[in-house]
This record gives sequence, C-alpha cells and structure tokens, in this order.
Amino acid sequence: MKNLLFLSFILLTVNYLPAQNQVVLNVDLAEHQISRHIYGHFSEHLGRCIYDGFYVGDNNELIPNNKGVRTDVVKALKKLQIPNLRWPGGCFADTYHWKDGIGPKAKRPTIVNAWWGGITEDNSFGTHEFLELCEQLDTEPFISGNVGSGTVQELADWIQYTNAGYESPMSKLRTENGHAEPWTVKYWGAGNEAWGCGGNMRPEYYADLYRQYATYMQTAGKGSDLYRIAAGGYSDHYTWTEVLMKNIPLKLMEGISLHHYSVLSWTDKGPSTEFTEDHYFATMQKALAMETHIQKHSNIMNKYDPEKTVGLIVDEWGGWYEVEPGTNPGFLYQQNTMRDAMIAGTTLNIFNNHCERVKMANLAQTINVLQAVILTQEEKMLLTPTYHVMEMYKVHQGAMMIPIHIKSEVYQVGKDSLEAISVSASINKEGKVHISLVNIHANQTEKVAISIRGMTAKNITGRILNANKLQAYNTFDAPNKIQVSNFQGASLDGDKVSVDLPPFSVVVLEVE
Ligand code: AHR
Repeated sequence: MKNLLFLSFILLTVNYLPAQNQVVLNVDLAEHQISRHIYGHFSEHLGRCIYDGFYVGDNNELIPNNKGVRTDVVKALKKLQIPNLRWPGGCFADTYHWKDGIGPKAKRPTIVNAWWGGITEDNSFGTHEFLELCEQLDTEPFISGNVGSGTVQELADWIQYTNAGYESPMSKLRTENGHAEPWTVKYWGAGNEAWGCGGNMRPEYYADLYRQYATYMQTAGKGSDLYRIAAGGYSDHYTWTEVLMKNIPLKLMEGISLHHYSVLSWTDKGPSTEFTEDHYFATMQKALAMETHIQKHSNIMNKYDPEKTVGLIVDEWGGWYEVEPGTNPGFLYQQNTMRDAMIAGTTLNIFNNHCERVKMANLAQTINVLQAVILTQEEKMLLTPTYHVMEMYKVHQGAMMIPIHIKSEVYQVGKDSLEAISVSASINKEGKVHISLVNIHANQTEKVAISIRGMTAKNITGRILNANKLQAYNTFDAPNKIQVSNFQGASLDGDKVSVDLPPFSVVVLEVE
C-alpha cells in the first residue's frame, strides 16, 4: 500500500512537471535565404475575393477607393509587405480569356464563372486593373495563364501585352488601351491543377504541353527573364512531380507548383467556427503533413535538379471548411479562428525551414475566400488571426534561415499524437534573430528551453497572438477581439532563453 502511494505520487509529480521542449539555434550555420515570396497571396475570381473584396468599381461612393481598389484593403496589405499576388485563379484561370478583360469596360463581354457559383461577371476587373492593384500594393504580379481551354498564342500574346517594351501588335494594343509603358510581369504560371479543373490531363500529356507553352512564354527571345511555373500536383501526387521533372528540360522551367489544403475530408469539411478539439487535432494533422509532402516532392526534385534551380512553389495552401451558413456554397466564404492562426504559423515555419527548395507560396485566398487575411462586409473590413500571423512573420522575409534542432513534447488526442511545438528562426541583415514558435497544444502551456549557438545575445523582446478559446474570431462588430500583444513570457540568461508558450498561441521573439 505504501509503495503504491509512493508510485502514484511519482506519477502525479511527473505529470505535473513542466514539459521540456528543447530548441538549439545554430546561428553561425545560417546559409540559405528565406525568399520573401514565401509570404505571397492568392486572389481568384471566386466569390467575393476580387469583386467586393479588392475591387468595388470606379464609381463607388460608399467605399473609399482608388481607381476602384479599396483603400482600406491596400493599407492593411501594405503593412504585411506582401511580396506577390497570384491571379486570376485557381480553376478560374483555365477558363479565362484575357482579351475579354481589356479595353473600354462597356464593351467588354461578360464571363460566366463556371467553377465558382455560376455567376456572370462583367470583366470590369482585367489585366490593367490587376496590375494597377499590384502597383498600389507595391507587390509583384504572378499571373496564371490559361492552358486548359486557351492556346499557346493566347498566353504568348498576354506576355507580350504586359511586357513588350518594343513595337509589336500587343504593345500597340496596350498603348491604345492607355498604358504605353510595359509593366514587366516576371511570374507566370502555365495552367492550374492540370490533373483536375485545369483539363483532367495525365502528367505525361501535361509535361509535353508545358514544353510547348514554355517555349513561347518569352519577351522577344529573352525567356530567362520570366519565371515560368509548371502546374504541379496536389499533396501526395508524387508521380506528377516525378513525370514533370523527368520530362521537362530544366531550362524551360523555373518553378513547379504544389497545392495542399488542410481539409478534413472533401465530403465533410467541418465547420469553420463551431469545431471540436477532435476537428482541430485532425486539421493540424493535415496542416503538418505539409512537411512530409515538401520533403518527398523535394527528394524527387533533387534527383533531377541537384543544383536546385527549380523552385517548389506552394501556390495554394490553407484551411478549407464548410462555408458560413447562409452563404453561397460556391463562394467559399468561411470565418477564421485561432485554429487558422495555428495553420498559418506552423505552415510558414515549414516553408522557412525548407527555404532551400521552397521559393514561393501563396495563401488561399487573400479576401473573403477560404483562409483569408481580410474579410469585408460592404464598407466594413476586419483583419483575421491569419492576418496577424502574417504580420508577425514578415520579419523572416529575405532573412537567412537559421538551422535548428527541436526536441518537442507531444500533444496527444486519443491514440494519435503530434509534436506540440513548431519553430523556425532567421537572422536579418542587421544581425537581429527572429524565432517564431507555435504551441499547437490546445490545453497546455509548453515550456521551451532555447540554446543560441554562434551569437552573443543581449536582449530579447517578443509578440504574441493568443485568445481565450481556440474557436475565437474577429467579427465586424468586434474586429479587434484577437490582436497581437507584447509577450512577457520569455527570459534571457546568457545564451539560454526560457519561454512559456500558452496553449494555441503564436509567438515571435526578437533577439539582439
Ligand atoms: O482555391 C480554391 C480552388 O482550390 C482553386 O481554384 C483550385 O486551384 C483549388 O482546387
């Protein structure tokens, strides 16, 4: 009996001992730059992303705008320093004929958005409006060309239209439409999800088609000025990557894409706000699977491209749930909670840590669609928890990734477990180190012991995003319920940092 009591005492004590997660930062081994393009966004003609979200029309007197582009949205996105914006899709891209979206608006034909809600759009937002938006955002445009239902000539002409600085039929047309100067668009995708909505192709067929398209994706013979992105696979479509890497000459391709959504199941995606801990756990399993997918796609790419000249471009990622009750199912409008902040924090850590191969990524989608950073309701706008993560993590853009070792405690639900913490770190030009930490555990504070090698640390500060419950979100009536605050839970002692990470929180530390 005495022994049994003693044993229970030990077990209880061990249970209540603070968890010890350990992280080692090798500051002196930083050698790969985190491309700022990892922090890119995606804007499709889908639901209220473009119309209502970004663009409210030239004559809108209710919502402040500059040439039809919402000024509140531009101000908020500029704060994120968004490096690039992908447009016009998604699935929409392979139905889009760009010449329908130029010239006098009254004369533009309409288009039926067959993939998303079957609504008729007036084409008032086209190439000029998109590139104007990118200028206002000070961001690089990334245009997805139509391979599924378009032609090689159509895409070649589009590139000429935006980029030709010399006399040509397309530069003449552009000048007639009021823009004599070329914009010089560097990032071009050849189709989207060619295995599905982009044409239901086999990888062998798409690889051949891509070779043909890529040959003519050029500005007067200067093909290398463009960054051409082949439409890649979904999650674990490893064969797709293998066939493309094997059959497309490296000189024709600068990037190959990958799409991965954190979706529970395509037939029952679960609610965006009223979810259970089981839902949350399963969502995080899907989100963290990004690590395996990137690793395996990279392994295949390494075989054919050991010099890593081709970037892995994760141009669609994020959480996908059932739409908000009462909204158009084809519009993919969903709320955004602390669960989404967890997806964003962990996914961006994965991208940072794989920056040697991952050169660009695009969160799906910027406004009012899927894991949006901004939601709008007429003249109102709110910033989601995902926005705040993007804002906290912008310190990593263009910095050097610090290799880290992590020993994590587990977060267990039923028989399954996940690593409780996710971490990435970088050092910027000024020598400041940023460490982004996510505590995935829904119920437990995680203690983290960080050792900093290769740097003399003198000072530490931090910021945190957390809330009183995982299901918390910002509303149009309470838009600042979830926001970033100063973090007091980290202390520095020599080269050691001790951190107390509250449950489901995202923290970014700055060490000088
Ligand atoms: O982002 C929504 C859709 O998801 C995109 O149009 C498509 O590429 C993907 O299947």
